[in-house]
Amino acid sequence: MNTINKSRRNFIKTAGALAIGSTLPLSLVELAFADSSQNFTFAYISDAHIQHIKDNRFVRNWDRGLIRAVAETNLLVPKPDFVMFGGDLAQLGSKPELDHGAEILSALHGEVRHVMGEHDYYLDLGEYWEKLFGPQYYSFDHKGVHFIVLNSIKTYDDWTFKRWPTAEQRMLEMAGLDNPNGSPFMVGEEQRLWLKNDLAKVAKDTPVVVFSHSPLQKIYKGWNFWTEDADQVQALLKPFKKVSVIYGHVHQIQYNQIGNISFNSVMATAWPWPYPQSYAQAEQHLPKLTVPMNRADPFFERDATGWQFINMANGNVDLNFTLYDNSSRVIRYNGKQKRPEDALYQDEKARIVPQTHY
Ligand SMILES: [Fe+2]
Ligand SMILES: [Fe+2]
Repeated sequence: MNTINKSRRNFIKTAGALAIGSTLPLSLVELAFADSSQNFTFAYISDAHIQHIKDNRFVRNWDRGLIRAVAETNLLVPKPDFVMFGGDLAQLGSKPELDHGAEILSALHGEVRHVMGEHDYYLDLGEYWEKLFGPQYYSFDHKGVHFIVLNSIKTYDDWTFKRWPTAEQRMLEMAGLDNPNGSPFMVGEEQRLWLKNDLAKVAKDTPVVVFSHSPLQKIYKGWNFWTEDADQVQALLKPFKKVSVIYGHVHQIQYNQIGNISFNSVMATAWPWPYPQSYAQAEQHLPKLTVPMNRADPFFERDATGWQFINMANGNVDLNFTLYDNSSRVIRYNGKQKRPEDALYQDEKARIVPQTHY
């Protein structure tokens, strides 16, 4: 009972602050540019991992994380132009999970678009997901920005079609984050060809924003914080002046710049993953510019989870992280340095020293 009361109080507190607080910074951003018609906001919710127990029972904590993101997104002022859901809506890709997740998301005001996650995909290879949410990859234009959604979590046909006795087994193998039986994610040739043709119609100075589930860069292979053909996808995006890639899957804040491409991750509503280097000192390539979050405190079920709203300001993305149990974070594109950076903690002296875990 206490926990419920505490969460409710926190929600009312946060929701109130959002409703009052969000008007000001958004207006300021719009005023900062001469052509404010190009500036707009969209919301991004990701990695809900809705998990079916049995009958009409689902894991309550994951439900609550998503319900809260939906409620808070609906309070944004001004209203976001659209909402993205970044994948891993379900835990094991089943119909009850996808249906239940879709039902929770149906409370969102405005248009919702989806990205495929591996937890949504590997039971029926996206068949039911497509019925609910549409194609697995597509593009759209909005206020002068070209948006692209890719399914980046596909893998080799041999692994997908020949290795497992049942679809359930295949799903379980890919759902385990550090399971050595998993297989590297990839966009694949078919989608890369589609992407090439799609981009051929776009002017080189049009801002391009790509949504994927896994990072379209190679960070840590052991947990599939990695896309096998990332370099080839990056090469297709290279001719464009302003490119941003926004990805889920990692359940933590990451950001960096590779050439003309800004990379930003989003948080999960379900649970946080630690940074790879805290796990057995494993070899990884987390970009050096990332300001680490401290590892989540297991005594607070909503620690290091949340959702985000994104200002599209002159073709660059500024991510505003709304974290349920932590101070908000802003990762903003620095036009002078030409890279995204933490607006609050970039200065070493302002950082909280990370804890060491063994
Ligand atoms: Fe996830
Ligand atoms: Fe994922």
